[in-house]
Amino acid sequence: MMGRADSGEAELTQRARVGTADPPLIVERVAKSFDLGSEIVPVIADLSLTLEQGQIISIVGPSGCGKTTLLNTLCGLLAPDAGHIRWHGREVRGQPQNVGYMLQKDLLLPWRTALGNTMLGLEIRGVGAAEAENRSRAMLDQLGLHGFVDHYPSTLSGGMRQRVALARTLVNDPDVLLLDEPFAALDFQSKLLIENDMVGLVRQRGRSLLLITHDIEEAVSLADRVIVLSKRPTRVKAVYEIEFGGDRDDMIALRENPDFSHYVRRIWADLDVGLQ
Ligand SMILES: Nc1ncnc2c1ncn2[C@@H]1O[C@H](COP(=O)(O)OP(=O)(O)OP(=O)(O)O)[C@@H](O)[C@H]1O
Ligand SMILES: [Mg+2]
Repeated sequence: MMGRADSGEAELTQRARVGTADPPLIVERVAKSFDLGSEIVPVIADLSLTLEQGQIISIVGPSGCGKTTLLNTLCGLLAPDAGHIRWHGREVRGQPQNVGYMLQKDLLLPWRTALGNTMLGLEIRGVGAAEAENRSRAMLDQLGLHGFVDHYPSTLSGGMRQRVALARTLVNDPDVLLLDEPFAALDFQSKLLIENDMVGLVRQRGRSLLLITHDIEEAVSLADRVIVLSKRPTRVKAVYEIEFGGDRDDMIALRENPDFSHYVRRIWADLDVGLQ
């Protein structure tokens, strides 16, 4: 069934009552503006959300509403003006540990092979060369890049490069993944395949995922919950619990489910992106 709420606050209260273990991420009444000298631009008005262990949340919102600013604030690249961000129950200064962050651009190093790029984070963290290589090969294998480990980025397709970037993020075994439209530039088919693989790996390892996307169908097909943001200065406009019942592995079949288009229509209406 479709659920809807106007903020995450009810959820926070509910958690306090039940007294369960700390979720990987709690965002509580965060606000953020940019001081341009001549004016102050409010970007995030007042935003709360909770990401549970093993949960996948998609965030959709109008262009320029503050989605990237939100992600940058969550991972410690920007400081919030107000509110609290708790990782596993704790407020962290700077960048939180065990959080993988992936952007729309793959940012692979052109002089490193697929394997070399995947190993990078492990090398920086001082993991031994043999272990770094084994783990990286295994991750590239899992993402279908077995025959391409020695290829340089320039000789890979866009979809393959994004797979390498994803391998590089996942090989560090992050508890939480924050993704900012990482597959937006890919064709529909490549996008569907890579998302399918990514969601499989995330769910199989019980990881949590926060995904920002422009694509409502992508948001609904992937996530347990879709959060719709308002225009800037942004706040949570609506929350949808996505429930199809049964198997969610086949993301193509899912799109034929009558509930799928129901969710998509409701979210589209919430987004209010008509011509102005
Ligand atoms: N460093 C900055 N300094 C000043 N203003 C900024 C800065 N970063 C973003 N902004 C402004 O904040 C607003 C939100 O930008 P942001 O990139 O977070 O939006 P977005 O929702 O990710 O957009 P899109 O959907 O196009 O990716 C915009 O008006 C932008 O101009
Ligand atoms: Mg953005």
